Amino acid sequence: MSKELSLLMLPGDGIGPEIMTEARRVVDWLGHNRALNFFVEEDLVGGAAYDDGGKPLADKTLERAKSVDAVLLGAVGGSQWDGVEYDMRPEAGLLALRKELGLFANLRPAICFESLVDASSLKPELVSGLDIMIVRELTGGVYFGEPRGIETLPNGERRGVNTQVYTTSEIHRIAHVAFDLAGKRGGRVTSSEKANVMESGLLWREEVTKVALDYPEIALDHMLADSCAMQLVRAPKQFDVIVTDNLFGDLLSDVAAMLTGSLGMLPSAALGIKGGGAMYEPVHGSAPDIAGKDIANPIATILSLAMALRYSFDCAAEAQLIEDAVQDVLAGGLRTADIMQPGKAKVSTSVMGDSILRAMDRLNIT
Ligand code: IPM
Ligand code: MG
Repeated sequence: MSKELSLLMLPGDGIGPEIMTEARRVVDWLGHNRALNFFVEEDLVGGAAYDDGGKPLADKTLERAKSVDAVLLGAVGGSQWDGVEYDMRPEAGLLALRKELGLFANLRPAICFESLVDASSLKPELVSGLDIMIVRELTGGVYFGEPRGIETLPNGERRGVNTQVYTTSEIHRIAHVAFDLAGKRGGRVTSSEKANVMESGLLWREEVTKVALDYPEIALDHMLADSCAMQLVRAPKQFDVIVTDNLFGDLLSDVAAMLTGSLGMLPSAALGIKGGGAMYEPVHGSAPDIAGKDIANPIATILSLAMALRYSFDCAAEAQLIEDAVQDVLAGGLRTADIMQPGKAKVSTSVMGDSILRAMDRLNIT
């Protein structure tokens, strides 16, 4: 019997359950057709977990997440939890998972599929062939820095505080991830911060420059984060790997995502130390406005599963099969609403999932 691949699925809120259902079907397909020995568990996270047990991440769920090879997460959040205590909001469950699993490196590839070139809001020649990897630091910076909070001053004014903080070791380990990846790709790293106004940004720039000395074959340049956002929409193909902090990475990856046509297309991987856990999730959110309507795009989640196969399960051939199947379905003209184009066939979440499975049947050569 082949090695057991343990996977924890956390569908979460909004469209999470629908898109996870399609990913689950891909997992089942791989079990039947490629004899992969998956052990799959499912649990609650985010608002769903809060409604169930009063916390967005139950202790037992965190323990499960720590014990499996990989976690696949759908999405968290929704306006029905706007009123809950701040540290119990759905997003806090996601942040706790990242922090507690030590997932400091967030890989967010932005690849423009050829058949979707016209779905981008940018001119086709700017995005055709686009292949960027955003490496976002995920467990530090302003997301977690102390002090933080909202206080009331003696004069009655309220004051909100968050702290942007990075240490050399945090910067070094994420920089190594970026340089190692660039070595397997285009050989270029762009490091992005605000060294012109923030000391933490200056430190980031200096320390990334030091790490670069270990990688003489990689070209490094530095770009202020605002300028990077501008360059991403002006001439995105100039980038290979972008390495940046937690907050700028959140913003820049949304920008990069839209270059590819839709947020509904982009997967991500959150990795920690070698041999530790890993979490895979679509870059998009829970999209409560379209939840339950069977119109959400399941592709980002299915491609996140492909990333899990590649980075956690050492199943590159199966990852490629999924990616090829997605290409094939898009080339065949099927589109969910978010990537709909004139002359194409609009399909539901479940029909998109079916079509990807049928493409996997066709492309499957063992
Ligand atoms: C993301 C999301 C999260 C983040 C939210 C849901 C907490 O925007 O993964 O990009 O800000 O990191
Ligand atoms: Mg985001």
